[in-house]
Amino acid sequence: MKDKEYEKDKLIDKIDLDSLPTHIGIIMDGNGRWAKKRNLPRNFGHQEGMERVIEIVECADKIGIKYLTLYAFSTENWKRPQSEIEGLMKILVFYIRRELDKLYKNNVKLDILGDISRLADTPRNEVKRAVEKTKNNTGMTLNIALNYGGRDEIIYGIKNFLNDLEMGKITKDDLNTETFSNYLYTKGQPDVDLVIRPSGELRISNFLLYQIAYAELYFADSDILWPDFKEEHFYKAILDYQKRYRRFGGI
Ligand code: IPE
Ligand code: IPE
Ligand code: MG
Repeated sequence: MKDKEYEKDKLIDKIDLDSLPTHIGIIMDGNGRWAKKRNLPRNFGHQEGMERVIEIVECADKIGIKYLTLYAFSTENWKRPQSEIEGLMKILVFYIRRELDKLYKNNVKLDILGDISRLADTPRNEVKRAVEKTKNNTGMTLNIALNYGGRDEIIYGIKNFLNDLEMGKITKDDLNTETFSNYLYTKGQPDVDLVIRPSGELRISNFLLYQIAYAELYFADSDILWPDFKEEHFYKAILDYQKRYRRFGGI
Protein backbone atom coordinates (compact mmCIF):
# COMPACT_ATOMS: atom_id res chain seq x y z
CA MET A 1 0.00 0.00 0.00
CA LYS A 2 2.76 2.43 1.00
CA ASP A 3 4.61 1.69 -2.25
CA LYS A 4 1.48 2.40 -4.27
CA GLU A 5 1.02 5.76 -2.51
CA TYR A 6 4.66 6.56 -3.15
CA GLU A 7 4.32 5.69 -6.87
CA LYS A 8 1.24 7.92 -7.22
CA ASP A 9 2.96 10.82 -5.47
CA LYS A 10 5.99 10.40 -7.73
CA LEU A 11 3.73 10.60 -10.81
CA ILE A 12 1.90 13.69 -9.52
CA ASP A 13 5.23 15.40 -8.88
CA LYS A 14 6.17 14.95 -12.51
CA ILE A 15 3.02 16.68 -13.79
CA ASP A 16 3.56 20.26 -14.90
CA LEU A 17 0.63 22.04 -13.27
CA ASP A 18 1.10 25.04 -15.58
CA SER A 19 0.35 23.06 -18.72
CA LEU A 20 -2.53 20.83 -17.72
CA PRO A 21 -5.14 19.93 -20.30
CA THR A 22 -8.05 22.30 -19.60
CA HIS A 23 -10.67 19.82 -20.77
CA ILE A 24 -10.33 16.04 -20.53
CA GLY A 25 -12.85 13.60 -21.99
CA ILE A 26 -12.94 9.96 -20.94
CA ILE A 27 -14.60 7.12 -22.82
CA MET A 28 -15.20 4.81 -19.88
CA ASP A 29 -15.01 1.45 -21.62
CA GLY A 30 -14.47 -2.15 -20.58
CA ASN A 31 -16.89 -2.62 -17.69
CA GLY A 32 -18.49 -5.66 -19.31
CA ARG A 33 -15.17 -7.36 -20.01
CA TRP A 34 -14.01 -6.67 -16.44
CA ALA A 35 -17.08 -8.51 -15.12
CA LYS A 36 -16.75 -11.33 -17.67
CA LYS A 37 -13.17 -12.00 -16.59
CA ARG A 38 -14.55 -12.63 -13.10
CA ASN A 39 -17.57 -14.65 -14.23
CA LEU A 40 -19.86 -11.91 -12.92
CA PRO A 41 -22.90 -10.33 -14.59
CA ARG A 42 -22.03 -7.22 -16.64
CA ASN A 43 -23.67 -4.86 -14.17
CA PHE A 44 -21.05 -5.72 -11.55
CA GLY A 45 -18.58 -4.15 -13.98
CA HIS A 46 -20.72 -1.02 -14.23
CA GLN A 47 -20.91 -0.86 -10.45
CA GLU A 48 -17.14 -1.14 -10.05
CA GLY A 49 -16.73 1.39 -12.89
CA MET A 50 -18.71 3.90 -10.86
CA GLU A 51 -16.21 3.58 -8.03
CA ARG A 52 -13.52 4.67 -10.48
CA VAL A 53 -15.70 7.59 -11.57
CA ILE A 54 -15.71 8.86 -7.99
CA GLU A 55 -11.93 8.45 -7.65
CA ILE A 56 -11.03 10.01 -10.98
CA VAL A 57 -13.35 12.98 -10.43
CA GLU A 58 -11.62 13.58 -7.11
CA CYS A 59 -8.11 13.41 -8.47
CA ALA A 60 -8.94 15.53 -11.55
CA ASP A 61 -10.31 18.16 -9.19
CA LYS A 62 -7.30 17.82 -6.88
CA ILE A 63 -4.74 18.59 -9.57
CA GLY A 64 -6.80 21.43 -11.05
CA ILE A 65 -8.52 20.10 -14.19
CA LYS A 66 -11.20 22.65 -15.12
CA TYR A 67 -13.48 20.50 -17.30
CA LEU A 68 -13.93 16.75 -17.17
CA THR A 69 -16.37 14.96 -19.49
CA LEU A 70 -17.26 11.34 -18.78
CA TYR A 71 -19.01 9.25 -21.43
CA ALA A 72 -21.57 7.27 -19.42
CA PHE A 73 -24.23 6.20 -21.93
CA SER A 74 -24.29 6.67 -25.69
CA THR A 75 -27.22 7.07 -28.05
CA GLU A 76 -26.20 3.63 -29.36
CA ASN A 77 -26.19 1.96 -25.92
CA TRP A 78 -30.01 1.62 -26.11
CA LYS A 79 -29.28 -1.44 -28.28
CA ARG A 80 -28.22 -3.31 -25.13
CA PRO A 81 -30.54 -5.67 -23.24
CA GLN A 82 -33.20 -3.88 -21.22
CA SER A 83 -31.92 -5.49 -18.01
CA GLU A 84 -28.45 -4.00 -18.52
CA ILE A 85 -29.88 -0.54 -19.26
CA GLU A 86 -32.09 -0.66 -16.18
CA GLY A 87 -29.16 -1.84 -14.07
CA LEU A 88 -26.99 1.00 -15.36
CA MET A 89 -29.65 3.59 -14.55
CA LYS A 90 -30.13 2.16 -11.05
CA ILE A 91 -26.39 2.37 -10.44
CA LEU A 92 -26.41 5.98 -11.66
CA VAL A 93 -29.24 6.92 -9.29
CA PHE A 94 -27.54 5.16 -6.36
CA TYR A 95 -24.29 7.08 -6.89
CA ILE A 96 -25.95 10.45 -7.40
CA ARG A 97 -27.74 9.96 -4.09
CA ARG A 98 -24.55 8.87 -2.36
CA GLU A 99 -22.18 11.45 -3.83
CA LEU A 100 -24.17 14.62 -4.55
CA ASP A 101 -23.53 16.37 -1.23
CA LYS A 102 -19.81 15.73 -1.52
CA LEU A 103 -19.71 17.03 -5.10
CA TYR A 104 -21.61 20.09 -3.99
CA LYS A 105 -19.22 20.74 -1.07
CA ASN A 106 -16.26 20.33 -3.39
CA ASN A 107 -17.69 23.13 -5.54
CA VAL A 108 -18.08 20.81 -8.58
CA LYS A 109 -20.61 21.94 -11.18
CA LEU A 110 -22.43 19.01 -12.74
CA ASP A 111 -23.68 19.27 -16.31
CA ILE A 112 -25.37 16.76 -18.58
CA LEU A 113 -24.51 16.38 -22.24
CA GLY A 114 -27.26 14.57 -24.09
CA ASP A 115 -31.02 14.28 -24.28
CA ILE A 116 -32.25 13.05 -20.91
CA SER A 117 -35.92 13.21 -21.90
CA ARG A 118 -35.67 9.56 -22.95
CA LEU A 119 -34.64 8.44 -19.45
CA ALA A 120 -37.12 6.90 -17.02
CA ASP A 121 -38.61 9.27 -14.40
CA THR A 122 -36.34 8.38 -11.47
CA PRO A 123 -32.96 8.72 -13.21
CA ARG A 124 -34.15 11.80 -15.10
CA ASN A 125 -35.31 13.52 -11.93
CA GLU A 126 -32.19 12.62 -9.96
CA VAL A 127 -29.98 13.94 -12.72
CA LYS A 128 -31.98 17.18 -12.91
CA ARG A 129 -31.78 17.59 -9.14
CA ALA A 130 -28.00 17.17 -9.23
CA VAL A 131 -27.59 19.73 -12.03
CA GLU A 132 -29.88 22.18 -10.25
CA LYS A 133 -28.13 21.79 -6.88
CA THR A 134 -24.65 22.44 -8.28
CA LYS A 135 -25.48 25.02 -10.93
CA ASN A 136 -23.90 27.95 -9.07
CA ASN A 137 -20.72 26.08 -8.16
CA THR A 138 -17.55 27.63 -9.54
CA GLY A 139 -15.01 24.80 -9.35
CA MET A 140 -14.47 21.98 -11.81
CA THR A 141 -17.21 21.37 -14.38
CA LEU A 142 -18.10 17.70 -14.53
CA ASN A 143 -20.00 16.82 -17.69
CA ILE A 144 -21.76 13.47 -17.76
CA ALA A 145 -22.52 12.42 -21.33
CA LEU A 146 -25.81 10.57 -20.94
CA ASN A 147 -27.86 9.44 -23.91
CA TYR A 148 -25.18 11.33 -25.76
CA GLY A 149 -24.03 10.99 -29.36
CA GLY A 150 -21.74 13.36 -31.22
CA ARG A 151 -23.83 13.25 -34.40
CA ASP A 152 -26.99 13.71 -32.42
CA GLU A 153 -25.46 16.76 -30.74
CA ILE A 154 -24.60 18.35 -34.08
CA ILE A 155 -28.22 17.97 -35.24
CA TYR A 156 -29.37 19.40 -31.89
CA GLY A 157 -27.01 22.34 -32.49
CA ILE A 158 -28.36 22.95 -35.98
CA LYS A 159 -31.93 22.94 -34.70
CA ASN A 160 -31.00 25.39 -31.95
CA PHE A 161 -29.35 27.64 -34.46
CA LEU A 162 -32.37 27.50 -36.80
CA ASN A 163 -34.62 28.50 -33.89
CA ASP A 164 -32.52 31.59 -33.23
CA LEU A 165 -32.46 32.34 -36.93
CA GLU A 166 -36.24 32.13 -37.22
CA MET A 167 -36.61 34.38 -34.21
CA GLY A 168 -34.24 36.90 -35.75
CA LYS A 169 -31.70 36.60 -32.90
CA ILE A 170 -28.90 35.77 -35.31
CA THR A 171 -28.26 36.02 -39.06
CA LYS A 172 -26.80 33.40 -41.35
CA ASP A 173 -23.59 35.40 -41.60
CA ASP A 174 -23.07 35.22 -37.84
CA LEU A 175 -22.58 31.48 -38.07
CA ASN A 176 -18.97 30.32 -37.85
CA THR A 177 -17.11 27.54 -36.07
CA GLU A 178 -16.93 29.59 -32.85
CA THR A 179 -20.55 30.68 -32.72
CA PHE A 180 -21.77 27.22 -33.68
CA SER A 181 -20.04 25.69 -30.66
CA ASN A 182 -22.40 27.71 -28.47
CA TYR A 183 -25.35 25.79 -29.86
CA LEU A 184 -23.99 22.49 -28.59
CA TYR A 185 -24.47 20.80 -25.21
CA THR A 186 -21.00 22.10 -24.23
CA LYS A 187 -22.07 25.72 -24.73
CA GLY A 188 -19.53 28.10 -23.23
CA GLN A 189 -16.94 25.38 -22.59
CA PRO A 190 -13.53 25.05 -24.20
CA ASP A 191 -12.71 22.35 -26.76
CA VAL A 192 -11.37 19.04 -25.51
CA ASP A 193 -7.58 18.83 -25.11
CA LEU A 194 -7.21 15.17 -24.22
CA VAL A 195 -9.39 12.11 -24.83
CA ILE A 196 -8.63 9.03 -22.75
CA ARG A 197 -10.00 5.58 -23.60
CA PRO A 198 -9.06 2.52 -21.57
CA SER A 199 -9.53 -1.12 -22.57
CA GLY A 200 -7.72 -1.09 -25.88
CA GLU A 201 -10.42 -0.08 -28.36
CA LEU A 202 -8.96 2.41 -30.84
CA ARG A 203 -12.08 4.36 -31.72
CA ILE A 204 -14.10 7.40 -30.75
CA SER A 205 -17.57 5.77 -30.71
CA ASN A 206 -19.49 9.00 -31.42
CA PHE A 207 -17.93 10.96 -28.52
CA LEU A 208 -17.75 14.78 -28.73
CA LEU A 209 -17.14 14.80 -32.48
CA TYR A 210 -17.14 18.58 -32.83
CA GLN A 211 -15.11 19.35 -29.71
CA ILE A 212 -12.26 16.87 -30.28
CA ALA A 213 -11.15 18.33 -33.63
CA TYR A 214 -7.65 18.96 -32.23
CA ALA A 215 -7.67 16.82 -29.11
CA GLU A 216 -4.77 14.55 -28.26
CA LEU A 217 -5.83 10.91 -28.02
CA TYR A 218 -4.62 8.51 -25.36
CA PHE A 219 -5.53 4.84 -25.55
CA ALA A 220 -4.65 2.74 -22.53
CA ASP A 221 -3.61 -0.90 -23.02
CA SER A 222 -6.31 -3.52 -23.50
CA ASP A 223 -5.57 -5.08 -20.10
CA ILE A 224 -6.60 -1.84 -18.39
CA LEU A 225 -10.38 -1.89 -18.37
CA TRP A 226 -12.28 1.08 -16.94
CA PRO A 227 -12.84 -0.60 -13.52
CA ASP A 228 -9.04 -1.05 -13.38
CA PHE A 229 -8.35 2.58 -14.27
CA LYS A 230 -6.86 4.09 -11.12
CA GLU A 231 -5.35 7.41 -10.17
CA GLU A 232 -1.92 6.41 -11.46
CA HIS A 233 -3.32 5.60 -14.93
CA PHE A 234 -4.93 9.02 -15.05
CA TYR A 235 -1.66 10.73 -14.16
CA LYS A 236 0.19 8.64 -16.74
CA ALA A 237 -2.23 9.81 -19.43
CA ILE A 238 -1.65 13.45 -18.45
CA LEU A 239 2.12 12.97 -18.43
CA ASP A 240 1.91 11.43 -21.90
CA TYR A 241 -0.15 14.41 -23.07
CA GLN A 242 2.44 16.79 -21.69
CA LYS A 243 5.14 15.18 -23.82
CA ARG A 244 3.25 15.97 -27.03
CA TYR A 245 3.75 18.95 -29.25
CA ARG A 246 0.43 20.35 -30.41
CA ARG A 247 0.71 22.11 -33.73
CA PHE A 248 -2.94 22.88 -34.54
CA GLY A 249 -2.03 22.84 -38.21
CA GLY A 250 0.93 25.17 -37.80
CA ILE A 251 4.60 24.24 -38.09
C1 IPE B 1 -18.54 0.89 -20.78
O1 IPE B 1 -18.29 -0.48 -20.62
C2 IPE B 1 -19.82 1.35 -20.13
C3 IPE B 1 -20.89 1.68 -21.08
C4 IPE B 1 -20.82 1.69 -22.36
C5 IPE B 1 -22.17 2.00 -20.47
P1 IPE B 1 -18.92 -1.56 -21.60
O2 IPE B 1 -20.23 -1.96 -21.05
O3 IPE B 1 -18.95 -1.05 -22.99
O4 IPE B 1 -17.90 -2.73 -21.45
P2 IPE B 1 -17.34 -3.69 -22.59
O5 IPE B 1 -16.80 -2.81 -23.67
O6 IPE B 1 -18.50 -4.51 -23.05
O7 IPE B 1 -16.28 -4.49 -21.92
C1 IPE C 1 -18.68 3.89 -25.77
O1 IPE C 1 -18.47 2.57 -25.41
C2 IPE C 1 -19.81 4.47 -24.97
C3 IPE C 1 -19.55 4.69 -23.56
C4 IPE C 1 -18.40 4.50 -22.94
C5 IPE C 1 -20.65 5.20 -22.79
P1 IPE C 1 -19.15 1.36 -26.21
O2 IPE C 1 -18.66 0.13 -25.57
O3 IPE C 1 -20.59 1.58 -26.30
O4 IPE C 1 -18.50 1.56 -27.66
P2 IPE C 1 -18.24 0.51 -28.82
O5 IPE C 1 -19.55 -0.20 -29.05
O6 IPE C 1 -17.20 -0.42 -28.36
O7 IPE C 1 -17.80 1.33 -29.97
MG1 MG D 1 -17.65 -1.18 -24.54
